[in-house]
Amino acid sequence: MSTLIDNIGLLVTHESERSERENAALVIDNGTVTWVGDAGAAPDADERIDADGRCVIPGFVDSHSHIVFAGDRSAEFEHRMTGQPYAAGGIRTTVAATRAASDAELTANAARLVAEMRAQGTTTVEIKSGYGLTAVDESRSLAIAKTLTSETTYLGAHVVPVEFKDDPAGYVALVIGEMLDACAPHAKWIDVFCDNGAFDVDQARAILNAGVERGLGARMHGAQLAPSGAVQLAVELGAASVDHCTYLTDADVDALAASDTVATLLPGVEFSTRQPYPDARRLIDAGATVALACDCNPGSSFTSSMPFCIAVAVRDMNFSPAEALWAATAGGAAALRRTDIGGLAIGQRADLVILDAPSYVHLAYRPGVPLVHRVISSALS
Ligand code: NIG
Ligand code: FE
Repeated sequence: MSTLIDNIGLLVTHESERSERENAALVIDNGTVTWVGDAGAAPDADERIDADGRCVIPGFVDSHSHIVFAGDRSAEFEHRMTGQPYAAGGIRTTVAATRAASDAELTANAARLVAEMRAQGTTTVEIKSGYGLTAVDESRSLAIAKTLTSETTYLGAHVVPVEFKDDPAGYVALVIGEMLDACAPHAKWIDVFCDNGAFDVDQARAILNAGVERGLGARMHGAQLAPSGAVQLAVELGAASVDHCTYLTDADVDALAASDTVATLLPGVEFSTRQPYPDARRLIDAGATVALACDCNPGSSFTSSMPFCIAVAVRDMNFSPAEALWAATAGGAAALRRTDIGGLAIGQRADLVILDAPSYVHLAYRPGVPLVHRVISSALS
């Protein structure tokens, strides 16, 4: 079954030499882009969609989420808006609610959030565990995540749970022992929150190395709350991505620029915690690869909207609209080490969004306005 999308006012393909085309058309065959060219010049197809001058962009790749959870932390958000700082300890509130929830409740909540994401143009999402923190609760979280995406991440090292508060070394042993055994079959990645109130650099190194030895790819939560050695550890271990990057030293920026570790910025976190926005120019101008993601979670960033993140990134992080769109699509793909998504060049997956706008600039120019006319993708993965 082939589909021609014709009469595209502006098509963003992220092909290296020519990433935007005006008055374009695109042909999809069996979920893959098979032809890109001028409007009206396309070969015949089984079905024709008239984009009527709209802008067509690659589907968003949201490379960072924590959507397997139960409970609500809106009161914590309310307190932050009147001056309370964000602290890692709030994670334990969600751990208690998640442990008490049934598989059916956790699945329904996560599926609802995935549906929200898709309605806002996301066609690939990464999902982490991290609110179970027992072997059983982490592995069931990942089993649920795996029903929704192939990009699953084991985050047993989210925070030390209350029952191990006097024995953090014992918890690390569990994370790299019995819990890893239970989780590795359901996970593609391993992640660790290496920051104040969570895990230190030595613990993070032991945890990521254990995961990598089991065949998982490394990811990192780093420099969210303070500068630390987390970013350089991520680079040293060849992590696919280090996420947050709110407090980067010059040495961190240099290390990222010289590596293929992606710096993933999460505008929803600074928005929801009133922490300072990191300056994307510092990273982009140094030559680092930058991604944007929602970090959808009940504590630090309860948004599922990539358009919202793009608007904040342009307004407050010094991205140009084109850079923000790239970071939210091709950048997210790089953070997941995927080449089949994030662009609409011939041979890539035909995951795309038809915007109710003549240009992707409207994603930032019209913040908060639902601009997704239609999402086309074989499946959210
Ligand atoms: O990415 N920083 C660690 N983990 C999440 C927040 C989790 C929470 O507060 O529940 C994050 O921001
Ligand atoms: Fe996170």
